[in-house]
Parts: sequence; structure tokens; C-alpha cells
Amino acid sequence: MQLQDILFSQGFGTRRVCAGLVQQGWVSVYQPDSPEPAQCLDASMDFAVEGLRLRVQGVDWPYHAKAYLMLHKPAGTECSQKPSAHPSVYTLLPAPLRQRPAKGALSGVQAVGRLDQDTTGLLLLSDDGQFIHRMSSPKKHVPKVYQVTTKHPVDAQQIKRLLAGVVLDDDPKPVLAAACVQQDACRIDLTLTEGKYHQVKRMIAAVGNRVEALHRSRIGDLELPEDLAPGQWRWLNVDELALLT
Ligand code: URA
Repeated sequence: MQLQDILFSQGFGTRRVCAGLVQQGWVSVYQPDSPEPAQCLDASMDFAVEGLRLRVQGVDWPYHAKAYLMLHKPAGTECSQKPSAHPSVYTLLPAPLRQRPAKGALSGVQAVGRLDQDTTGLLLLSDDGQFIHRMSSPKKHVPKVYQVTTKHPVDAQQIKRLLAGVVLDDDPKPVLAAACVQQDACRIDLTLTEGKYHQVKRMIAAVGNRVEALHRSRIGDLELPEDLAPGQWRWLNVDELALLT
């Protein structure tokens, strides 16, 4: 693939901008077995993309045909591109990830579902529409684990009701937790396989309690890694992606 097309595919701007980056000497390419990248001034030079690593404007960038990321969402951020009151989670990502070409536009990666502004934890992002659909479709029943801190102690009756199903105001069909494990008097791990609006908070309210803090710790078999601090993101590796597909 030509270098300008590679840069375009990775979100470095329009083809014209990408060609300009190369011609101005901002792009170097790692050759196999070479610890240092070599500058390339020819935007139409061909490179094999498999395992390719670039350095663009001083920053190393591994080539990814599709982007699959995890982000540790901090509290006080919104999952919308156009947030209303708090910074968007997208501002935590580098610019190329926000302008990768997708569906004919430079729209970048999208969050797989949304978490509330005050919810923390594991958020997936991708530019692969099928992956986003698969992971977020209620029909696929991908389990998500939420660590819930409640205002009042959770009793056995409340756990029984969460597992049996509670009716939320807008839907006559009861929603239920796939699992509910008590960790502490005011701490439960709740596993849900749907993603209705404010679902955890509304389920907890429906059994007469209240959510004080909410953290998503797992999606499918993928656990939020302990070494990923709030606000940090990273590419999913092959093994992690395999856990989800
Ligand atoms: N349920 C909620 O109530 N909020 C979230 O952010 C996620 C699930």
C-alpha cells in the first residue's frame, strides 16, 4: 500500500495532508530488524502493512487495519462526541483515532455502547461497525459486569428480586441480572446481558436501594486490566480480541 494511503487509513488526515506530512519529512518507517526508523520522503512508496510501524511527527504508530481499543473511563466524562456538560471520552484519545476513515467520512472510532457520566471502568471503542453491533446488540447477550456500591446495605430479598427480574417504568417486560454476587454489605457485582438506559441505577432503585458508585469491570471475558489507570487507553491485543469474538 502506498505510504500516503497507509497514513490516510490510520487517521492522519486527508490524502493530501498525508502526502504533505511525508514530503515535509515528518514520516519515518521502521524496517524489519532496525531499531530506528528511516525517513521516507516519497508519499507513493509501497509498504507491506502487516506488522508495519511508523513514526509520524515524532510519535510511534503501529499499523492497525481496524482499531479495537479499551479505555478506562474516568468519572466526569461523557461517551458522546458532542457532550453537554462534561468532557467527552474522545478527548482522551490521540487525534488519528478520532479521524480514522469510516463509512466514507473521517469519523474515527466509536464507543461500544455508553456509560453514564459518573460511571467508571471498561469502555471499548472501534471503527469496525460489525464488531460494535455484535458487542452492543441486546440480542447477542454479551455479559457485562458492574461493581455497584449502594447507599444502603443490600439484603437477600433485593438480590432475589434482581435475579428474578424487576419492571422498569418504560417497559412491562421485567429485566433481570444474569448474576448478582454480594461482596460487602453495600457492594454487589451485577452481571447484565442487556444495556438499557441507566439500567443498573434503575434496577437498584426498583428494589428500594440507590447506586452510590458504578464501575464496569468486565465485558464478555475481557477484564479491565489493573494497570490501565483511569483516563488511559490501549489497543486490544490479539488474545484480548479473541476473548470478545
Ligand atoms: N447502568 C447504569 O445505570 N449506568 C451505566 O453507566 C451503565 C449501566
